[in-house]
Amino acid sequence: MTEPSSYPVMDVYRQREATDLSHYQQQYDESINNSDAFWRQKAQRIEWTKPFTEVENSSFDRDNLHIRWFEDGELNITSNCIDRHLDKHGDNTAFIFEPNNPDDSNRVISYKELYRHVCQMANALKSRGVKKGDVVTLYMPMIPEAIFAMLACARIGAPHSVVFGGFSPEALADRIDNGQSKVVITADEGRRGSKTIPLKDNVDVAIQHCHSTRVDTVIVVANTGAEITWVDGRDVDYTEITDEQAVDCEPVSVNAEDPLFILYTSGSTGKPKGVVHTTGGYSVYNSLAFEEIFDYHRGETYWCTADIGWITGHSYVVYGPLLNGATSVIYEGMPNWPTANRAATIVDKYNVDILYTAPTAIRAMMADGDKSIENCSLSSLRLLGTVGEPINPEAWRWLHSEVGKNNCPIVDTWWQTETGGIMLTPLPGATALKPGSATLPFFGIQPEVLDADGTVLNGPCSGGLCIAKSWPAQARTIFGDHQRFIDTYFSSYDGYYFTSDGCNRDEDGYYWITGRVDDVLNVAGHRMGTAEIESALVAHHAVTEAAVVGKPHAIKGEAIYVYVSLNSDTEASPALEKELKNWVRQEIGAIASPDTIQFANGLPKTRSGKIMRRILRKIASDECDQLGDTSTLADPTVVDQLIEQRQMIK
Ligand code: WTA
Repeated sequence: MTEPSSYPVMDVYRQREATDLSHYQQQYDESINNSDAFWRQKAQRIEWTKPFTEVENSSFDRDNLHIRWFEDGELNITSNCIDRHLDKHGDNTAFIFEPNNPDDSNRVISYKELYRHVCQMANALKSRGVKKGDVVTLYMPMIPEAIFAMLACARIGAPHSVVFGGFSPEALADRIDNGQSKVVITADEGRRGSKTIPLKDNVDVAIQHCHSTRVDTVIVVANTGAEITWVDGRDVDYTEITDEQAVDCEPVSVNAEDPLFILYTSGSTGKPKGVVHTTGGYSVYNSLAFEEIFDYHRGETYWCTADIGWITGHSYVVYGPLLNGATSVIYEGMPNWPTANRAATIVDKYNVDILYTAPTAIRAMMADGDKSIENCSLSSLRLLGTVGEPINPEAWRWLHSEVGKNNCPIVDTWWQTETGGIMLTPLPGATALKPGSATLPFFGIQPEVLDADGTVLNGPCSGGLCIAKSWPAQARTIFGDHQRFIDTYFSSYDGYYFTSDGCNRDEDGYYWITGRVDDVLNVAGHRMGTAEIESALVAHHAVTEAAVVGKPHAIKGEAIYVYVSLNSDTEASPALEKELKNWVRQEIGAIASPDTIQFANGLPKTRSGKIMRRILRKIASDECDQLGDTSTLADPTVVDQLIEQRQMIK
């Protein structure tokens, strides 16, 4: 289970106070045994407009579930992200924007400039009637205006709801409706490598599909300058509306428990959930986590490759770095376009010290071999981080030796949209590394491994990963559906937050995440609910039934493998296969488009009608010799047919 070779602490792995685990252990123990005192002290990192008196008020008891931190305190996160740096560090760079096309000029944005952009955008939102508590939807490419827009919302206490630019108009419409958003911020188009994404067109279609919300304002950034349709009165040009605004905007003081943002994520059932994060605890936790985990020192250049459409973009492109006055690179495009070494070129161009990325990107680089790093020195790097899925030891070693030149520790960080911040991670310079393990809990995090019966396991073990006690950055609810929040996270194990991840714990207490134990796929680091894809498929007139499983994929981690049964008057054909793939793309987005579609006469079901995905997974992965017990199936002959059909499409 564990890797024999662990990477010991090396001198170069510097840490602020100490270079051994005792520094970590001492603080960790304090954070658990003396939690209130620990977080009271860490909360001093934040400037509060009204100081809090109570630190934590929470219970994981499902009949009395509540999660509150610093609950009588008030603050504005953007004053902490921007204003407080202005006096001494206003000319420091907040963001360096690297455009998709390497021949286009980059943009450097200082903290002073960030202040002006955010204030003008906040005033623009106010001029369109946005008030504290109104949800604003963002559907943006990875450009600086996306960050200005998020911060502008936070400046006036309006929760932002960022929808990843790869989602379809249908998916966008659902999210606009769910948040009752009257204002949408977008761009004419996004750019990803050689492709353009018609963001504004998608917004137009989405608005037509909204059932319960009338969007009255669409603010459009001219990103590519493409011709777009314009609805007078509703559509507003970003530059026009911001230019005319005052350059200051008083930050609205919000309660620590007021929502900062909603972010939709997939679960095992139903439509994506709007995970709600609040302001105070999220700020304190991510301010601390960013500094400790990336060992950040002012003046260093940090690059997190995540899109702002995901939680990593929220916590570790925007809020964590800005709370620490950091300098970040943001990049619009793809890591391997127009050349395989683009990502490495960007590291060299900006002398990036800290690079935080996803295992899928590392495996894609590995697949390109030397090409992905050719002509690049990468000598500025001193720390590497990964997130989003388990990193296989082979990719870990490649990253360590080829990118990090055996000189950079790797922080393998495990966390979730719902956790708001990093939960399991090494601390550079303190934690001995083991390739493939996210190692140990961060301060304040109390992981427990439980077996299927709900028994807490001790020592080395395997089971479901739970968290025993609240932490400040934890999600507070699902937007508009608190019961679903309780049912999803607190009903599997009494008194625990259940992560839906399986894990092993080794004899050193290190955690090894084995992946989701629910019906959630992890495709190139993106969470996809199988139920979501299935319901999109059965909405197609030709499909009577669909089952979606993950199939191991060398680069993406998992690929989407779909079994569909057709209604009796439809013939399976390559044209229909293509149509169904496009259909899913249209309903959800390109990231959910199936890699393989297998037409099936029937699906393996238990006598009670439950689809046995375990069997479907094995067939998709060509492990038919490991099907296990099929005797409980209503009709075992279905399996033979499926295996036969699988042979035909291989
Ligand atoms: C997986 C991303 C192993 C895990 C921040 C989790 C990981 C899901 C790791 C959350 C890691 C994330 N090692 N697995 N270092 N990081 N995961 O909500 O299955 O997009 O439940 O948040 O990604 O994905 P989400």
